[in-house]
Amino acid sequence: MQSSAITVRVAQLRHELQLHNYLYYVMQSPSISDSDFDELFKELQDLESQYPELIEEDSPTQRVGGYPSDKFDKVDHPNPILSLSKVNSPADTEAWFARISKLDGRVMSNKFVVEPKIDGLTVVLHYENGVFTRGCTRGDGHVGEDITRNLRTVRSLPLRVPVKGSMDAPSTLVVRGEAFIPNQSFYDLNNKLGANGERTYINARNAASGALRQLDPRVTASRPIALFCYEVVASDPQFLNSQWDTLTYLRELGFPVSDDSVLCNNMRDVIDRCQMWSDKRKGLDYEIDGVVIKIDDLDVMANLGVVGKDPRGAVAYKFAEDQVTTRLVDIGLNVGRTGVLTPYAVLQPVKVGGVIVKQATLHNLDFVRDKDIRVGDHVLIKRAGEVIPYVIGSLELERDGSEVPYDPPDKCPSCGTAVHRFTNEVAIYCANIACPAQIVRNLEHFVSRSTLEIDGFGKGLAKQLVEAGLVKDVADIFSLDKTSLLELEGFAHKKVSSLLTAIAESKKKPLSRLVEALGVRGVGSVASASLASAFGSLDALGEATTEELQEIEGLGPNIANAVVEWFDEPTNRRVLDKLQAAGFWPTLNDSHNNISGVLTGMTIVITGTLQGWSRKDAVDYIESHGGSVGKSITSNTNYLLVGDRPGSKLDRALNLGITVIDVNSLKDLVK
Ligand code: IVH
Repeated sequence: MQSSAITVRVAQLRHELQLHNYLYYVMQSPSISDSDFDELFKELQDLESQYPELIEEDSPTQRVGGYPSDKFDKVDHPNPILSLSKVNSPADTEAWFARISKLDGRVMSNKFVVEPKIDGLTVVLHYENGVFTRGCTRGDGHVGEDITRNLRTVRSLPLRVPVKGSMDAPSTLVVRGEAFIPNQSFYDLNNKLGANGERTYINARNAASGALRQLDPRVTASRPIALFCYEVVASDPQFLNSQWDTLTYLRELGFPVSDDSVLCNNMRDVIDRCQMWSDKRKGLDYEIDGVVIKIDDLDVMANLGVVGKDPRGAVAYKFAEDQVTTRLVDIGLNVGRTGVLTPYAVLQPVKVGGVIVKQATLHNLDFVRDKDIRVGDHVLIKRAGEVIPYVIGSLELERDGSEVPYDPPDKCPSCGTAVHRFTNEVAIYCANIACPAQIVRNLEHFVSRSTLEIDGFGKGLAKQLVEAGLVKDVADIFSLDKTSLLELEGFAHKKVSSLLTAIAESKKKPLSRLVEALGVRGVGSVASASLASAFGSLDALGEATTEELQEIEGLGPNIANAVVEWFDEPTNRRVLDKLQAAGFWPTLNDSHNNISGVLTGMTIVITGTLQGWSRKDAVDYIESHGGSVGKSITSNTNYLLVGDRPGSKLDRALNLGITVIDVNSLKDLVK
């Protein structure tokens, strides 16, 4: 090819590629296939590598190039990059309209442009004679950072305008837009990062900001950044008279402009639009945090002037947000009802979902560790409906080095006793039965139907007794007296004496019930029955090692550890001493446990799911008729009580010739 023919072909290829790029990324209606596009691209690349002198910065091949830089240069903006004041309701909007109408009479008859307020990053794009020469961040509104090489990688950003047609570009043109990552692309990106074991972003805005602030443009190029433009910051010559014409002009040059912007004739239309948008936003593929209302006439806009950084002629109509960012001032710990310590965030107060929020849950310690949440971080919090506000994650990009990683304490913040850790978990818990943060709940459990079964003793009374200072640990119920109970609200002689009788009666409850009443983590009715029959007394259980405990069928290492840790706790030992002193120290062979009945002396083993009965119901039934429940089939077993889906115990019982019964036959036996 002749050198002039090559120059022409290169120019032609660039023009075609630019047009196809525009049709694909801006208009989203490509007219050629991807492979045809790739072929043209390859042809241009080949020609440019053969004739490097023909390479120009607006060539589509130059979107990604060069090497990482170590910082971004500072750039002065030609005009201030302004911000917007906010309105939150139709009434606020009307008030704004009334204010500016007084300042300039032309406002009354002016039109307004209503645009989506995209939750992205402002970018300022410079064009000289139609060629993209520089792109910057907003910075402080006067000086921004030069991120040209990163912005070049944004496919919908035209490297030369006009993209098509014969219109002349102004010699100088500075355009403002918003760079963002569409929702679907954001989910895809996060999934990809997560699958590669890389850190994910907490929202699309952060992902876009992270991508544009990359020092290596190749990384930016791999991020799906989109763009919408909405303002001409400067142009030479100046020729635009209205905001609506500005949008049309930008669109004609080939800039991506939101099709969702509208021209409204009056305030009523504007407010209707704002309300419509607050419903419509969820259906969009990009995040908006409000809409922007702008006076259409640019002369009126200029005449209204600026207050601080905000032009008077435009406002942001903000939607009530359910997600905001704020600073994490500290991490506190709540002692939950079951003793597990759960972290919460102490926040710099912030308005979210219409209320001021000062605290938010951090879920659990795994969350704090996995998300690397540090004290001093900026965090994203969410408050949706009636849900307790919670932390979504921290904004790593906002760190300045003063943030401190969180180190969980080794003592319970409520009672000061050493905390315990679950095997293989980050979670910690406090095993102190008398821990003030847990006492109401522990007491409630101690007297409940499945444990000591004290009539008339519910949650309300538990709270009342603790608040009155009469109960500091569960054993204190056995030293309650008439005089102090009578002082409680709602207590008369009759109620007091029936309560005291019920408490005294409860001391006759069998060992298994007391074991369950202690509230050891993970020890429910089945484990309590097994522990009681295996060890026979609290003295023996308190001496058991984790190995011995794990020999019991169905008892894993977590429960075995929890039992040992519970008995290791000095406060718990003191409570046990008090129970013993109060005369409540049942053993398996106690006479008061040996209720005589038709099943006295008989050992019954249970297998399968019993019809209409829980395992506990069956144990209670057998014990209340004098029988005892065995763990496994031995030659001493009298009966095997069978339910649905019986286990291997059935085979063993049949082998040994032990009588097999169901719930109904058991009831018949007792009749
Ligand atoms: S107009 C005078 N229009 O919202 C012009 N801003 O403080 C002032 N934003 O971070 C901005 N979409 O980057 C305008 N259609 C839009 C916008 C928009 C998003 C952002 C802007 C700034 C904030 C306003």
